[in-house]
Formats: sequence, structure tokens, C-alpha cells
Amino acid sequence: MIPCQRHLFDIPETIAYFNCGYMSPLLKSARAAGHQGVDRKSAPWTVAPGDFFTESETARSLFARLINASADDIAIVPSASYGLAIAARNIPIKPGQKILMLDEQFPSNVYCWTELAKETGAMIVTVPTPADHDWTSAVLATIDEKVAIAALPHNHWTDGALLDLEAIGGKLRSFGAKLVLDVTQSLGALPLDVARIKPDFLVTACYKWMLGPYSLGFMYVAPEYHAGAPLEYNWLNREGSEDFAALVDYVDDYQPGARRFDMGERANFALMPVAIAALEQLLDWGVADIQETLKHKTKTIAERCAEFGLMPLPDHLRAGHFLGLRRAGGLPKNLRETLLAENIYISIRGSSLRVTPHLFNNEADSDRLTAALSRHL
Ligand SMILES: Cc1ncc(COP(=O)(O)O)c(C=O)c1O
Repeated sequence: MIPCQRHLFDIPETIAYFNCGYMSPLLKSARAAGHQGVDRKSAPWTVAPGDFFTESETARSLFARLINASADDIAIVPSASYGLAIAARNIPIKPGQKILMLDEQFPSNVYCWTELAKETGAMIVTVPTPADHDWTSAVLATIDEKVAIAALPHNHWTDGALLDLEAIGGKLRSFGAKLVLDVTQSLGALPLDVARIKPDFLVTACYKWMLGPYSLGFMYVAPEYHAGAPLEYNWLNREGSEDFAALVDYVDDYQPGARRFDMGERANFALMPVAIAALEQLLDWGVADIQETLKHKTKTIAERCAEFGLMPLPDHLRAGHFLGLRRAGGLPKNLRETLLAENIYISIRGSSLRVTPHLFNNEADSDRLTAALSRHL
């Protein structure tokens, strides 16, 4: 268990913030790194051509460590939707084949597939929400020889319901189908090993559980796609781009591995140092320990909430960092605003009250949340 890390963040004691699923706060170290980055851009004479590469490579390597991949498999993207568009562009699909996704999945991992289906004559298959919340069994039961792509999360963004991606990945592979993951609501807080799950593409935005900046994300691309088509044609990811004097000697080749999928201007001097500082801290804490600690926090909150009728998913079906609470008869209108008036931050997603804490939350935060809920329910 990791002790409370609030001292590493700048969060007033008056704020009880349980909303990492919306946006995490920055670590003080990450904020300072970002300020330094802005200062560098104010003095461009301090920015050397080599700097367009070094920080990106550091970030790529750190992210690769987080998911047990190689730096060559990582592309730098601005958003989850950008990465998912790369996946949609590079997986061949035929008319009548199926693209599988979950009911009420986050739209970034929906729109690119509905467009692909329109363009190719493929079919979207939405797995309905299972009454017992066991998404793994529901997805496994839906996979057949017509499925070409499953576009999935590690846990549902509304209530944290977990998917066993190793089992799902194995069944998809046995049918020759591809696995595309949007892990924006889990990576950084829930351990993930690409060597075990073997996704074809995996993407995350940085601004939630990665504790990083907005407008930056990372993407894993399996080696068989390293010769694929990028979304845009920028100069920095071309072979030999380190030599700025020779940039007009245009070349067809790219930098090695997944670097060809990097977004234009990926050497972002303000945001990249923020992502690096956050990745270093996540790796230092260890994602397995983050998950264990957050599981304990959410379990304690869930036990107290059960007393006034707010029910979580069963422990074995939910991700430990993510608590979706539902009540028979629904939640009172304006519950979010009522809590907000007391400086308590949660989200409502569908029928679920979403509590998404991090290591900065202390006992006092949990006491305030549960006391307020008991008063207002
Ligand atoms: C599951 C999931 N994916 C992706 C995103 C963000 O998508 P994008 O980076 O395309 O804005 C969110 C934001 O709430 C999300 O919950």
C-alpha cells in the first residue's frame, strides 16, 4: 500500500477531489517541468535541433516500460481519437465483417469505427450491457468468425466494469480478429502487459490516470503494422530528419518502428516534459501498487455507501481505481451540483455516480464524501 501522496500535488485541504476519470491534477514535479518547458520556448536560442528528438525518445521509452513494450513500438499522438483513427486506417476489413464494441462505449472509440463501417460495408456489433455486469463473458460469447476487429477498453468508462483482455485477446486471435484498445480510463492505474494481451493497437490520452497533460497521448503499435500508413505526413518522423540542413532532400523512408505514426510537432517543449515527469513518478510508485492502494480506497468508500443504498459492482468485476455506484430508484437530480457546493468532486455518468480517486486522496476526503452522500440520499 502506498501512503497518501497529497504532498506531491497542490490540492487545497478544502477540496475533496474524486474525479480522475474526468481529469487528474498534475504533480508538482510535472507542473514545474511544464513551466520550464514554456520558459525554453521563450528563449528559442536555448533549443537545439537535437532537442526535437531527445525528450520524445525519453517519453517513448518510459511509456514502453509502463506496458512492457519496446520503445520502437510506441507512437506519440495528441489524443485517443487520433490513435484510434490510425488503427481504423490500418486494419483491413471486408463488407459484412463485424466490428465489435461495448454498449455506451466512449465516443472516441466509436466514431472512427462507424465511419469505417460506412466506408467498407462492415457491420457494427454493440455488445449489450450484461445484467450481471460480466462484460468478459458477454464479449467472449459474441466473438465469432465474422468478427474482424474488437475495439474495447480495459474497464468501462461509466462504472469501472472490468474486461479480461487476455482471455478476449486469445479468443479474437483464434478467429484471426484484431484487438484495438482505448485504455484512457485505466492505464497508469491498472497494470497492463502487452506481451500477455497482445493487442494490435493500444492508445491512451495522458490527462487522466497517466497524470499527464491534456493534448498528448501514447500509442502502442504491434510490429506487424510498422510499415502502415500514418494519418498525416510530417517531416520530423522521416528518416534523417535530425539533419535540419538536408530536410529538402525529400525521402520516402520513415524513422524506425512506430515513429512513422507520430503526430506533427510531437516535440512539444511545454507538454512533453510534463508527461515525462508524470511517467517517472508512475513507474517509481509502480502501477500494481497504485492499483492495490486505490482498490483499498474505493472498497472502503463502497462499504460505507452500501449503508445508504448506493451499490457498487461486485469486487471481482470492477477495476480497483474506479467506483461506479448505483441506487435502486436512481440518483437524486442535481446530486453532482449539491456535492460541488461542498467542494466535493465526483461525476455522474449514465445511472452511475462515478468516484475516481488517486493517491492524493486522504481519509478526510473519504469521510467528507460519505458524510455528504448520507445527508443527501
Ligand atoms: C474512455 C475514454 N477514452 C478517451 C477519452 C478522451 O478521448 P480523446 O483523447 O479522443 O479526447 C476519454 C475521455 O473522457 C475517455 O473516457
